[in-house]
Amino acid sequence: MTTRDTDWDGVRLHVVTGKGGTGKTTVAAALALALASAGRKVLLIEVEGRQGIARLFDCPPLPYEERKVATGLGARGSGPGGDVYALAVDPEGALLDYLEMFYNLRRTGKALTRLGVVDFATTIAPGLSDVLVTGKATEAARRRVNRRDDSHVYHAVVMDAPPTGRISRFLDVSTEVGSLAKVGPIRTHADTVARVIRSPQTAVHFVTTLEEMPVQETLDGITDLSERTGGAIRPGGIFINMARPAMLDDADLAAAADGTLDVTELAVSLKAAGISDNHGLAADLMTELGEHAQQVALQNRERDELLTSGHPHYELPMIPEGIDLASLYQLATALRDQGAA
Ligand SMILES: Nc1ncnc2c1ncn2[C@@H]1O[C@H](COP(=O)(O)OP(=O)(O)OP(=O)(O)O)[C@@H](O)[C@H]1O
Ligand SMILES: [Mg+2]
Repeated sequence: MTTRDTDWDGVRLHVVTGKGGTGKTTVAAALALALASAGRKVLLIEVEGRQGIARLFDCPPLPYEERKVATGLGARGSGPGGDVYALAVDPEGALLDYLEMFYNLRRTGKALTRLGVVDFATTIAPGLSDVLVTGKATEAARRRVNRRDDSHVYHAVVMDAPPTGRISRFLDVSTEVGSLAKVGPIRTHADTVARVIRSPQTAVHFVTTLEEMPVQETLDGITDLSERTGGAIRPGGIFINMARPAMLDDADLAAAADGTLDVTELAVSLKAAGISDNHGLAADLMTELGEHAQQVALQNRERDELLTSGHPHYELPMIPEGIDLASLYQLATALRDQGAA
């Protein structure tokens, strides 16, 4: 019997999307750390040219080159993990890469850049630039060590992808390129890329917070993806980010929500803890707890709504101090503990 390694056995390309600002870059980085267990190499790819990954890992801006940015999360109780590499892909670099890889034409490509042809190709034909960028990710996901050793270079590739509103078009490369190139090398390339993206090797994960708009966008995004591609591109997990844990048990939360929490009892507890209640502290606390209870109730409603989609979900806490390298590993550990890696 084979045991499942993670919820994503067989997935080699993880595409991370979500509403803007919900934590795509953060979650993609945490997932890469979690997937890079000992002896495994994982590539984290950024496609929007914002250098978010370099900032997150505290390293200089990433060139168009795969660079090691971190050591992955080790297995519990054992040594350090594998390596996390990162790459910032831009359409221009991807076009030069494509020319080199398939035609050995890097020099020509450089000349084309000077003549403005590359700009032309990548700005006039967004479908083309998308296929070049996704093509780089699928190439990395399929890359083998060499002819004698045909194991994969990367155990997994994680892409910090465009937001929900653009993800279906971005990934639906064969349709997008269709009108530009019906035959020829670009068409063939697009078909190869599409085959990987539409295979069980690729999963599209959605990052959301427990708020109405991002939740709605997630559910719409999942529907849109499957309608547009006839179910060929597979939604992966829902990554609930910045969740605020409940500070009270259910009974106290209910009491706090409807204002029936015992204020004298609260004042007594404060006193027992050595805090005097001479400024109406207990009453202020009551108000705060009321707000907290309402927030928890809202979170619960949004979570229930997300769960109707039936996709696996993972929950990451709001880190009050903000995200640094240490909290990134903390999020990676939470993902691993929940089976995401
Ligand atoms: N779990 C968390 N706890 C605390 N802060 C977080 C958490 N996740 C993300 N953040 C913070 O929220 C902000 C947005 O996160 P991030 O940049 O990852 O989102 P994004 O979806 O990639 O945004 P964009 O759409 O701009 O690319 C950042 O300041 C990040 O540090
Ligand atoms: Mg981002």
